[in-house]
Amino acid sequence: MRGRRRDDTCVFGSHTDFSALSTHCSRKYLYSPQRWRELLDFCGFFDVEGVDHVLDGKRILLIIGGGIAAYKSLELARLIRRRGGEVRAILTKAGQEFVTPLSVGGLTHDKVYTDLFDLTAEADMGHIQLSRDADLLVVCPATADLMAKIAHGRADDMASTALLATDKPVMIVPAMNVRMWEHAATQRNLTQLIADGVSVVGPTEGSMACGEFGPGRLVEPEDIVDAIEAKLGGAQLLAGRKAIVTAGPTHEPIDPVRYIANRSSGKQGYAIAEALARLGAETHLVSGPTALADPFGVQVTRVETAREMLAATEAALPADVAVCAAAVADWRADTSTNSKLKKDGSGQVPPLSLVENPDILATLSAAGAQRPQLVIGFAAETDDVIEQATAKRARKGCDWIVANDVSPGTGIMGGDDNTVHIITEGAAEHWDPMPKAQVATKLAARVAQALTS
Ligand code: C5P
Repeated sequence: MRGRRRDDTCVFGSHTDFSALSTHCSRKYLYSPQRWRELLDFCGFFDVEGVDHVLDGKRILLIIGGGIAAYKSLELARLIRRRGGEVRAILTKAGQEFVTPLSVGGLTHDKVYTDLFDLTAEADMGHIQLSRDADLLVVCPATADLMAKIAHGRADDMASTALLATDKPVMIVPAMNVRMWEHAATQRNLTQLIADGVSVVGPTEGSMACGEFGPGRLVEPEDIVDAIEAKLGGAQLLAGRKAIVTAGPTHEPIDPVRYIANRSSGKQGYAIAEALARLGAETHLVSGPTALADPFGVQVTRVETAREMLAATEAALPADVAVCAAAVADWRADTSTNSKLKKDGSGQVPPLSLVENPDILATLSAAGAQRPQLVIGFAAETDDVIEQATAKRARKGCDWIVANDVSPGTGIMGGDDNTVHIITEGAAEHWDPMPKAQVATKLAARVAQALTS
């Protein structure tokens, strides 16, 4: 979150600063949401140029659980309002340890509901009414405890009671320590919640506040609002369409213990699969070996080699769109053996001869009647990115190439951000640097536009 200031008196550039400011101000200066809003207003938070009103008139009941990621729910509330939605918030007891009712109220422009037995609140708007008055209930962050409560139908505070009393769709955005996320109990609760029709957004993978690494991080607020938009039906632009996405590296065996590989993380391809699914496409992800969790709402086939990837991709046809984001190994060892190669002490190195792998993108592009209407390839280049990508588009026979510069130093390979150029017939469009998830959302929207125009 970046505050745009109107003068030089107040600037805060990160979530952490904002959270600290919130605590500081609420203790020292601000006694009402109105005052709080005035401060934010003063700092330029509510400048509304560029507001798009995709969520116009939609009412979101935001339930904020008690986790370190709770501060991001403030940004979420701001973004929902920015897209035209209304937000009313319930802040759990644990949530209040992380963000204050004043800061939440300042951003929702409304009373914040905190206690089931608050008679004023009940008289004002009872918990049943509260949960019915919304178009969507969003639990963010959804802690392990909140997930357990919802899965088991507990109702011992304002949040869980509203969730049990609702007849509206529920979306949870989990965030917790990786071990808690992976615990059998949480995974059991997750399965139950999905079976009960709850939408689950994330979590994503990365380093966490607790110092561990893995799945458990809250999805970025921008992506949560995209998911809300998709859930509320405004953006099911790819409903009834089929998509295939390839992602990750391939591993080409040399012998049973060694293989040829590359540094692809699979992040961009996974994000694209998730974004296409969010727009309603029936999405099949064919993935090489990665450390990533299956994206939500996507059918995943995991493979090792290029030849397995081709077979799985062809088996997934027909499709309306194919996005080949995998970093397929160009060559495989033709000396692959079932016995481990041994050093024999003579100083002789074993010969490693390579043969070319099948080109999945080119194969799909030339698939005749089976060819997807739109075939999109990637070009990871280190020099002359646009020229190379333009030539690649012609060589492979695909419709678009998403080109990016993966020179060492760009941090793109394995990183969370990307800078891409979309090469279409006779044109190149340059996108600003942005998170891979946002590239995915934008590309999926572009795919929807192309397939439906
Ligand atoms: O030729 P190059 O590997 O640079 O081409 C990159 C594009 O081609 C990517 O879209 C990649 O997924 C695809 N590709 C493929 N099969 C291969 C090699 C590349 O689908 N064997």
